[in-house]
Amino acid sequence: MKALILSGGKGTRLRPLTYSGAKQLVPVANRPILFYCIDNIVRAGITDIGIIISPETGQEIREAVGNGKQWKAKVTYILQDEPAGLAHAVKVAKGFLKNNPFVMYLGDNLIGTDIKKFVKEFIKKKSDALILLKEVVNPKQFGVAEVSRNGSIIRLIEKPERPPSDLALVGVYMFSPQIHKAISRIKPSQRGELEITDAIQEMILMGRKVKSFVLETWWLDTGKKDDLLVANAIVLDEWGMIKIKGTVDKSSKIIGRVTLDENSVIQASTIRGPVVIGKNTVIENSVIGPHTSIGDDVRIMNSSVDHSVIMNGSEVIDVERLEESLIGRRVRIFKNSRHKTLRLMLGDDSVMEV
Ligand code: G1P
Repeated sequence: MKALILSGGKGTRLRPLTYSGAKQLVPVANRPILFYCIDNIVRAGITDIGIIISPETGQEIREAVGNGKQWKAKVTYILQDEPAGLAHAVKVAKGFLKNNPFVMYLGDNLIGTDIKKFVKEFIKKKSDALILLKEVVNPKQFGVAEVSRNGSIIRLIEKPERPPSDLALVGVYMFSPQIHKAISRIKPSQRGELEITDAIQEMILMGRKVKSFVLETWWLDTGKKDDLLVANAIVLDEWGMIKIKGTVDKSSKIIGRVTLDENSVIQASTIRGPVVIGKNTVIENSVIGPHTSIGDDVRIMNSSVDHSVIMNGSEVIDVERLEESLIGRRVRIFKNSRHKTLRLMLGDDSVMEV
């Protein structure tokens, strides 16, 4: 069995963060989302992994993941030179996939469970497709399944105007080589893409064995700011741990699960877990957490920060209370007490709630 991770696209919904980077590399609890996908695939015993990249962000993905050695996996990069859909990506990857069954995993999806059991079930039942579903409040934004009372799938529709159910297709799929035949039979959708949802629907029409499971744990499609903060909080809650490598002075308090990486310093501050703090970061006279991730080379002084993500190289100085915020790289936020007005320098597509 092989795996195909889709890590292309432009990440328009996470702008401005994704102007300068791939959405799959946006960190959740200080690790790129993509790394959790690879972890999950490798835990299922699959180590031959193809990663679909785009011309815009491919290089950055290559640099972050490398050859897969840190997972003891073999990674092959496959360039999809136009964003022509998920099924198009499978077509482009045919040379890598050959006639093997495979797991397809969207690199911006995070799920709260191991895929191992689904992979086993897929192999045992000799299915042609296994899909995961999850109830959502906004089914119009996803691929949606119409399911009969006995649990078999009647129909799959991509981003329907009138959703027949609230069961969305999660971005993790398992396929037999029959998927290639189905893809060769479908046409681009209204948004001009070859949809994987249409290809699976085609498999159903071809009389192939398509199985589905409803996920019982959480699923996050981290395409937007609030989703990302929720993902960050959940991952910290579930997987956060106590690991202090940096230094904490005597007047500071560390409460609950806090990870502090090497060369970071906490002075006269309270850190309330779950919190992760990267390398070479300084926190002084501040209160941090809960549910907060702070990257490498960050400086926080005389401030209070909770339920937020602050990425590498940023600074927060004299800010009384910063909450539910997503701060990119090398951002500086500081208070200037001489001015009553706000003085800002915000890039394209920035969002500021005052
Ligand atoms: C894609 C799929 C959709 C699925 C979703 C999950 O949507 O087309 O069926 O529900 O991923 O993340 P897209 O991200 O392309 O809008």
